[in-house]
Amino acid sequence: MHQLAGLDLIAEAKLFFSSPDGDPLVALEKAHVTQLTLCDMLEQIADSIPGQISRETCSKLGGDLLPLIRNIHRFEEDILYPLAIERLGSTPAIEATVTRLQYEHCEDECFAEELADALYELGTGKAPKNPEAIGYMLRGFFEALRRHIAFEHEHLLRLMRQAATDGRDDLVTG
Ligand SMILES: [Fe+2]
Repeated sequence: MHQLAGLDLIAEAKLFFSSPDGDPLVALEKAHVTQLTLCDMLEQIADSIPGQISRETCSKLGGDLLPLIRNIHRFEEDILYPLAIERLGSTPAIEATVTRLQYEHCEDECFAEELADALYELGTGKAPKNPEAIGYMLRGFFEALRRHIAFEHEHLLRLMRQAATDGRDDLVTG
C-alpha cells in the first residue's frame, strides 16, 4: 500500500475506534487490517534507516500510533472479548486466550509509547543518535504485533465467525 493511503487508513481507523459501531467482528477485521498496514509501514521505515526516511510519515505515525493502538485495545477489551466469552462460553481455553491477549495489549502499549518518541525523533530529520537501536525497536514492535494479530485471528475471530455460522444453521434447521 502507498504510504499516503496507509497514513489515511490509520488516521481514519483511529477516529473510528474512538467510538466504534456496527458489527464487532467486522470492526475487528478492520482493526487487524489497519494494524497490519501499520506493521508494513514500520518495516519499511526500519529497512530504510538511516537512509531515506520520509520525515512526514514518521512524525504522522509518531502522532497516530499510540491513540490508534489504545483505541483498538479499548474496543477489543470492552466490547469484543466480553462478546467472545458470551458467544463461545466461559471455558478455560477462552479465558486463557483473553488473558494472554490482554497481557500482550499491555506490553504493546508500553512499547508503542517508546516507539512514538523514536518516530518523532526520526521526523525531525536529524540523524538518529542510535539508528540500530531504533531499527531494533521497530522490528520488536511490529513482529510482536503481527504475532498478536495472527493469534487473535486464529483463536478468536475464526471461532466467533464459526459460532455465528453454526447459530444461523441452527436457526435454519431448527
Ligand atoms: Fe488485540
